[in-house]
Amino acid sequence: MSVPGAPDAAELMRRCDVLAAQSAMSGGIERVYLSPQHATVNAIVSEWMTEAGMSVRQDEAGSLVGRYEGAVPGAPALLLGSHLDTVPDAGRYDGVLGVMLAIAVVARLSARGERLPIALEVLAFGDEEGTRFGTTLLGSRAAAGSWQPEWAQLRDRDGVSLAQAAQAFGLDPARIGEAAHDPERVVGYLEAHIEQGPILEEAGLPLAVVSSIAGARRFQISVLGEAGHAGGTPFERRRDALAGASAIVLAAEEIAKRSGTIATVGRMSVQPGAVNVIPGRADFSLDLRAETDAARDAAWQQIEAAIEAICGQRRLSARIEQVHAAPAVTASPLLRDAVAEGIRSAIGVEGPVLYSKAGHDAMAMDALTGWAMLFIRCAGGVSHHPDESVTAEDVAAALDAFEAAVLAAARQSGARPAEPAHAEAAGPAVQEATP
Ligand code: HGY
Ligand code: MN
Ligand code: MN
Repeated sequence: MSVPGAPDAAELMRRCDVLAAQSAMSGGIERVYLSPQHATVNAIVSEWMTEAGMSVRQDEAGSLVGRYEGAVPGAPALLLGSHLDTVPDAGRYDGVLGVMLAIAVVARLSARGERLPIALEVLAFGDEEGTRFGTTLLGSRAAAGSWQPEWAQLRDRDGVSLAQAAQAFGLDPARIGEAAHDPERVVGYLEAHIEQGPILEEAGLPLAVVSSIAGARRFQISVLGEAGHAGGTPFERRRDALAGASAIVLAAEEIAKRSGTIATVGRMSVQPGAVNVIPGRADFSLDLRAETDAARDAAWQQIEAAIEAICGQRRLSARIEQVHAAPAVTASPLLRDAVAEGIRSAIGVEGPVLYSKAGHDAMAMDALTGWAMLFIRCAGGVSHHPDESVTAEDVAAALDAFEAAVLAAARQSGARPAEPAHAEAAGPAVQEATP
């Protein structure tokens, strides 16, 4: 169903194309936090929010907040959000589609002149992926009241600190924490997203309800050996850091497969990095996820033991720094019901219930309020890749379902107090392992 005066699925996909053109990467999409491209998409999205009948502001963390008042001005708000930043060489729908859907839901209400018993606020977060500063969910953690002032000292690959980048963006780094929403003024958070892998495609269904989001830990690991001549150094004398790091990568994959968890090494660099020099040092990332924190932590213990054993066998040492930890979070039962109802009303059947292996802003919003998510099918389950693709039919179904979920959540919120938050704090920790 389309609503005259509000964007339809084709228009939402066109808007995703418009934002995809705002990229720092030639021939691909890369849009990171506090970059010129971030400022440009904020300006474009701000116009779409205004057109949809919202009053728009940029918060202290550089996220956009569009507000559509309810029947009584100043009422508590149901938050609808997602992110506008991307991974390097990204697709055009991860994050962005969720923001476009949220704006379209408000545009439909506005086109009908309809006011709800609560306000709606659309949040377009500037950082979820953590591409620039390594630490993820910066926009949503600021909005949720979990901003850590020390994050202002994070640096990007060029040595620019977050504080410097914030200033160049026109923000005051000392005030980023003021982006926090008052939990008393919020009734919940809803998010629509792709990034569910091939499950919906295999099930032949366009939409699903999210039950929980995997707990994640990320590490920066350095393996230290000794550089030497690639010709003259016999194998028994070598302390090849890259050979050791490679064994660790394979061990982590094996442990994750065995334990039903997920481990990924996505970045590695080698020093000194010459064809005829044995690597003296290898630095790499490790991303570890599982449905429960206990499963994730048990897998990490095994990986840590494997690192120690491999380094011991090869006369190497390892330094391990945990750079990110986020507990698994569970959707609010009431809001989850609202999403399930939205799916039923849009496609006439129950949506499957999936746990999310990808991280989302909802993880951060869990510290502020109850949340639920709607998953949308994408071709081949592909995400974090330029081939990300969705159909106009699925986007149309997602828009109808998201609108119906918002209406159901608004109805519920008249009959219940604000959802309590239930997140645990998870700060970075440094561990040293020198076997
Ligand atoms: O890494 C993730 O799971 C998410 O896409 N940020
Ligand atoms: Mn992503
Ligand atoms: Mn995403």
